[in-house]
Amino acid sequence: MQYSNKVIGHFKNPHNMGAIENPDGLGQVGNPVCGDMMKLYIKVKDNKIENIKFQTLGCAAAIATSSMITDLAKGKTLEQAEKISRSDVSDALGKLPPIKEHCSNLAADALHRAIQDYKKRNK
Ligand code: FES
Repeated sequence: MQYSNKVIGHFKNPHNMGAIENPDGLGQVGNPVCGDMMKLYIKVKDNKIENIKFQTLGCAAAIATSSMITDLAKGKTLEQAEKISRSDVSDALGKLPPIKEHCSNLAADALHRAIQDYKKRNK
């Protein structure tokens, strides 16, 4: 199995790793295929994702996709961030090996859940 240099770079040096205290939205997902878990925290200001962090217990691909989605979503409006798909994340990383494609689901799903959580809290 061959990871792209981008995947290896994000795995070795993940961006925006950690937690945010009192987040405006929290998305938590588990991967039923492997049991890996991810938490994604967002802070929202003026309808934009002002800050975003993740905590992921998972494989190299899960950590790389978590890191990449924080880069993709930071500074975006909620509407733009909602449109970031599972394949956007894996494309941005130069594609994951087919056996690891499911790993990119965690990051996109966690982001969408965090946005839903934010919307629920601010109804
Ligand atoms: Fe679990 Fe990759 S093997 S997310």
